[in-house]
Amino acid sequence: MLDQGAGPAAPKPQDGRSGRRQGGAARLMRRKPVETLIAESGHGAGGELRRSLGLWQLTMISIGATLGTGIFVVLGEAVPDAGPAVVVSFVIAGLTALFSALSYAELAGTIPVAGSSYSYAYATMGELVAWVCGWCLLLEYGVSVAAVAVGWGQYIDELLHGTLGLGLPQALSAPPGEGGLFNVPALVVVLLAMAFLLGGAKESARANTVMVVVKIAALLLFCGIAAAGVRAGNYEPFMPLGMAGVSAAGATLFFSYIGFDAASTAGEEAKNPQRDLPRAILLSLVLVTLLYCLVAAVAVGALPWRRFEGSEAALSGVLHSVTGQGFWPAVLAFGAVVAIASVVLTVLYGQTRILFAMSRDGLVPAVFSKVDPRSGSPRANTLIVSAFCGTLAAAVPLGRLADATSIGTLFAFALVNVAVIVLRRTSPEMRRGFRVPLSPLFPLVGLGLCAWMMFSLDAVTWGVFGVWMAVGAVVYFGYGMRRSRLKTAPTPARTEE
Ligand code: ALA
Repeated sequence: MLDQGAGPAAPKPQDGRSGRRQGGAARLMRRKPVETLIAESGHGAGGELRRSLGLWQLTMISIGATLGTGIFVVLGEAVPDAGPAVVVSFVIAGLTALFSALSYAELAGTIPVAGSSYSYAYATMGELVAWVCGWCLLLEYGVSVAAVAVGWGQYIDELLHGTLGLGLPQALSAPPGEGGLFNVPALVVVLLAMAFLLGGAKESARANTVMVVVKIAALLLFCGIAAAGVRAGNYEPFMPLGMAGVSAAGATLFFSYIGFDAASTAGEEAKNPQRDLPRAILLSLVLVTLLYCLVAAVAVGALPWRRFEGSEAALSGVLHSVTGQGFWPAVLAFGAVVAIASVVLTVLYGQTRILFAMSRDGLVPAVFSKVDPRSGSPRANTLIVSAFCGTLAAAVPLGRLADATSIGTLFAFALVNVAVIVLRRTSPEMRRGFRVPLSPLFPLVGLGLCAWMMFSLDAVTWGVFGVWMAVGAVVYFGYGMRRSRLKTAPTPARTEE
């Protein structure tokens, strides 16, 4: 057992720049050595995370976190922009994700710790960049859980309509400002996920695996049924709004790929992280991309693209038009309910593990790295994160903040691509479970694609992102920088190569 805040084997200072003697700029650039990150791996205050996850469960975690609202809900928003070429938009967004996924795979196999890109940035680009990355991850994970939980409510409504002919009252299915009082379904799904997570990583992974199987089955079933309604004429014109529409839809659909990196947050609970994390990340991305393209191709082939305008539960709408009856849409709605619940479960899991790593570094309060010895999971952290995300989902009109999740994620991915290049230069000798081919070319392509996607998002989203980052700066300079363990503990701080 470890004392609160004290990581294992903190190395002694090796140079005169460590500890309290660092100047302002040096503090912001202090780096956490990879060796220290790995030495601390698994340890939290009061106990250790349990290594219980194999390749299969890790792949399921990434698929679980990825496949959900994007294909079941956001597809309906993208088709009016791209037309039948929405399939191309999925490929573009998938390629953007793929190059970054290669970089994630290399770093997850080299630095297999819970903080994912936050920790990679800490080891390569210093504390300030790591904080920026961690703050972006709060958008990618924390805020997107809330947005996804809201999407869950739409399919619950669809399911109740299809099976019982009932609808949820508006007052109980939307937050104030969006015509309601409180979004009960959104809160319920977050609380369900919390209950699983409190049981421990292994139990959550088991439940997630079942849910992933159900959601893949539901999407394949959709393809099987909707294929009967496919008409060649629906694919023409293929790109009604030109390439601009296709790329705008690609930026919107990038949301559907968020989460492939979730396995990297399980670095401290994986049995063989160096071998399995890279495989899980890449495998999940390939499977998800294939499934997205298939579903999108069938959906726009079965329903003229203009009829997607304003649809909420898009795939159910397609089935309605093909079968004309309520049974299959209700089955699909059930699949979507399970699918989106597993996104909430795994993304919530990822958020707790990222905060766990940030807390161990002193950048957020120590309560986030306290491990419950019975379940081997960070209990208090899980309760706080669930309360935060549940409240956000149920009582706050997320509006443009939800749109900002993609920009925050793209920024974090961009940093991961840079981190690969930096680590190849600073630690070329390190053992890597996977190597990005043609480095630095591929990481640079990944970086460029992320930047391109970011600039495809509108000015308001950028504005919201700017405000979010400004709040992050206040928190860092007011709290994190002063409490950082690299400042208060005798860990060597590398400020230059
Ligand atoms: N990619 C996740 C989803 O589509 C966030 O729900």
